[in-house]
Amino acid sequence: MLKLSERIMMAAKMVRKGSIAADIGTDHAYLPAWLILNGICPEALACDLRKGPLDNARKTVEHYGISDKIKLRLSDGFDEIEPFEAQDFIMCGMGGTLMAELVSRAYWLKDNDKLLILQPQSHAEDIRAHLIENGFEITEEDACTDGGKLYCAFSARYSGEKKKYSDAYIYYGRLPECKKPEAKQYLCKVVDRLKTKLEAEKLHGSSEKADNLSRIISETEEKINEMQPDS
Ligand SMILES: C[S@@+](CC[C@H](N)C(=O)[O-])C[C@H]1O[C@@H](n2cnc3c(N)ncnc32)[C@H](O)[C@@H]1O
Repeated sequence: MLKLSERIMMAAKMVRKGSIAADIGTDHAYLPAWLILNGICPEALACDLRKGPLDNARKTVEHYGISDKIKLRLSDGFDEIEPFEAQDFIMCGMGGTLMAELVSRAYWLKDNDKLLILQPQSHAEDIRAHLIENGFEITEEDACTDGGKLYCAFSARYSGEKKKYSDAYIYYGRLPECKKPEAKQYLCKVVDRLKTKLEAEKLHGSSEKADNLSRIISETEEKINEMQPDS
């Protein structure tokens, strides 16, 4: 039976039962295959920018005999997907900056019935920032370790409301609500990276940017300290 890595499983668990899921940047199509094989989705789309990964996807769906349930699609982001083709849209293993660019091109994702499930490999703050600036809300957030590395994943949907968030929110999202120890560990890493950035800003940058970074670090540390002692 197909077994997913912890990282991809974290995203798979956020897919709504009964929905049609589209996996963007699917590579081997392990995620959509798992969703079909485990009865989560009746159908799915496995999409990738490049032919090589889509050939990997074809091998997986043929191996598991589910070619009739998974549509393979060469697509740059959401460009070749029709809005009615799926309800849950997953992107795993891409950088948050690229995710933000791809989401910005698909205006039709601004639909309360659609769910985005995102596992950014880096720059998670870029995709969180894009979402909240465009009326999306983060609905759930999770963290895990996989192969000794920490990862986060979150779901988001359009609400149309532009709520007021602090500058620090894009760095921690809803991870402070997650009870797993990995969430706290992940946020500690975020703070470490911000502190490195702060040192560089103090040496070669502007004092205004350094002050803002200091405030972001303090708020993120406060959130970490408020997390449950067992998390
Ligand atoms: C690092 S792999 C991640 C594969 C899988 N989602 C995972 O998490 O293990 C990134 C995949 O995204 C695809 N990709 C990169 N840019 C893309 C784009 N603009 N649209 C669709 N797929 C893209 C790549 O071809 C590659 O297969």
